[in-house]
Amino acid sequence: MSIVYHESSKIFHLYNETVSYLMMVMKNGHLGQLYYGKRIRDKEDFSYFLETCERPMTSCVYDDDRTFSLEHIRQEYPVFGTTDYRQPAVEIRQENGSRISDFQYCSYRIEKGKPKLSGLPATYTEDENEAETLKVLLEDAVTNVQAELSYTIFEKYGALARSVRFFNGGERPVRLSRAMSLSLDLPDSGYVWQQLSGCWARECHIHNRSLEPGIQSVGSMRGNSSHEHNPFLVLKRPSTDERQGEAIGLSLVYSGNFRIQAEVDAHDTLRVMAGIDPETFEWKLEEGESFQTPEAVMLYTDRGLNHLSQSFHKLYRTRLARGYWRDRARPILNNNWEATYFDFTEERLLKIASGAKACGVELFVLDDGWFGERSSDRAGLGDWKANKNRLPGGITSLADKIEALGLKFGLWFEPEMVNRDSDFYRSHPDWILATPDRHKSQGRYQYVLDFSRKEVVEAVYEQMAKLLREAKISYIKWDMNRSITECYSPAWPADRQGEIYHRYILGVYALYERLTEEFPKVLFESCASGGGRFDPGMLFYAPQGWLSDNSDAMERLKIQYGASLCYPISSMGTHVSATPNHQVYRNTPLHTRGNVAYFGTFGYELDLNGLSEEERQEVKEQIAFMKNYREVLQFGTFYRLKSPFEGNEAAWMVVSNDKKTALVGWYRILNDVNGRYTRLRLSGLEPEVCYRNVRTGTCHFGDELMYAGLITSDETAGQVSAGAKPCADFESRIYVLEGIEP
Ligand code: DGJ
Repeated sequence: MSIVYHESSKIFHLYNETVSYLMMVMKNGHLGQLYYGKRIRDKEDFSYFLETCERPMTSCVYDDDRTFSLEHIRQEYPVFGTTDYRQPAVEIRQENGSRISDFQYCSYRIEKGKPKLSGLPATYTEDENEAETLKVLLEDAVTNVQAELSYTIFEKYGALARSVRFFNGGERPVRLSRAMSLSLDLPDSGYVWQQLSGCWARECHIHNRSLEPGIQSVGSMRGNSSHEHNPFLVLKRPSTDERQGEAIGLSLVYSGNFRIQAEVDAHDTLRVMAGIDPETFEWKLEEGESFQTPEAVMLYTDRGLNHLSQSFHKLYRTRLARGYWRDRARPILNNNWEATYFDFTEERLLKIASGAKACGVELFVLDDGWFGERSSDRAGLGDWKANKNRLPGGITSLADKIEALGLKFGLWFEPEMVNRDSDFYRSHPDWILATPDRHKSQGRYQYVLDFSRKEVVEAVYEQMAKLLREAKISYIKWDMNRSITECYSPAWPADRQGEIYHRYILGVYALYERLTEEFPKVLFESCASGGGRFDPGMLFYAPQGWLSDNSDAMERLKIQYGASLCYPISSMGTHVSATPNHQVYRNTPLHTRGNVAYFGTFGYELDLNGLSEEERQEVKEQIAFMKNYREVLQFGTFYRLKSPFEGNEAAWMVVSNDKKTALVGWYRILNDVNGRYTRLRLSGLEPEVCYRNVRTGTCHFGDELMYAGLITSDETAGQVSAGAKPCADFESRIYVLEGIEP
């Protein structure tokens, strides 16, 4: 891995074994983008990559050079209004009303490792030799605003982490009305755009479209990254599939309003951007103040989508997620939400917990409803003290009782919210986000606390930290059940109201940081009505997140498959829930519910006492299976094999790091009587190692399984036949393959 500056050609070359990134200082002092793709050999001059030509009807920078127009030159961090008519990466509103800026190259420096981003989540290094960081300083001579572009290249991952820091070195305040984390101009637009979108209970569905002239984008203006669009994008060549081909992944390490967009111009070049949503953002920079954008990570591969995802998984699992739980197998939990909703007593909880313990569960999680006057979702949020009617001895006593059963204890919070009917709101009615003199919209009967104010964050911290100090709490589920409306903070002046969305999320990060630092062994699981804030920013604080409120196994196939494009298996909260399922009222077999949930952190979302003896036995076997294989499942290499978005079957697999164990999950949505012969070509095995199918005892070499395939056809061709297990809808199997000496 290296970062080189070629003085004579003014070219920067960042490269590692897989990728090269090239940019140059152009004759107008701006940075031009030369190349991003598969590693090429370093040399002094690549300036011929910067294509220009004399185009009719263009505005040009120089009188005597009609080829130099920013309108058709590929740039690194484009500005608004000086011959480029595409969308800019930065816009600065000045006191005289001008929005024109002209960021000229000043200097650069190269550092080993990767500096932290203050107050923001970001990828990191553990050893400074893992990465190198280039900082390029640009300055606008009229305002004296500086933009420091930061690029970190990692040795092991084909990843580049980018962000920008602005500093007002002038004497007049300016307003940043757009400050993207990343802009990338590519020479052609021959890509398929792939996004993860949906809504509540249908998160992370994969959507593809070809790029067309004009702007296409995904984003959020809700205050949270959202169920609707994940801050992630893949640009893949039309011929790219899971196993081969070029693709670029863009991922924003941020949990608030964002935009990722691509603009195809008239000459078929492509400008891609990622950053804070400019529509809902404005930041006042006084003299001497600075502003740091969130980090965006871009990853290039020429080895197909599985390789792209595996690279994201590795980077995010080991160099974005942090703390005690990062590399530890996650406890198997039982959450009481779908078992009881708000209808519980301590006695009922203890019964659920002892039933769970008898099956092998390790952690009991008490969800919503334990605090204040919370008998429904209309009251209590903000009052983080146990409801003594339900829990007479409080949380401390319940936690002790759970621990006495031999289980760890976990607790639900929704720290950022308050119900109107709560003591917290009654004491501080002005501590919510709301616009003066205007209607205050509610969501789930709750208001959003003004986390742009330090005193509000402090008051919530005090309540949470007190409980964490007093009671034996090993896990926290941090929920967030509504998006922001009427975004305004009375604590800030009029000319700073454009900052509130971002300041809010900085407050959330600050609280997370403080709690995770003070209680390092507590496992945090992020949640926002399921996947409303399932993003890389959260992963920095909470190594796992509740991926969706939809716990139906068939729905989860799509959600987990889509999320796996970017997010590691260890980050996905996955539970077996009751049938009929509470979201879609579907009945799926218990084994299929388990077979889907194994590919995640794994747990139960029901009262196990309500199952039959036979089913409880099956649960015991599932838990024993998960305990046996969770290291492989959560920390091995994940491959997508068959997409649930494309047919009646889905499949994926995980291979252990030593390649001695592989677990294949195969799922068929509807039964298919007298169906086709089917097989799955596996991935990631050692060709010459012989793998034994643990259930059947049959042995096959890795090359057979990868090139000819694992046969998944039904012996009965989908029919009920004497002696064989009847086939049905929602069927699934896990194939456990263990490498043996030949
Ligand atoms: C939404 C979460 O996603 C659920 O799992 C549950 O915790 C409820 N909130 C509780 O209100």
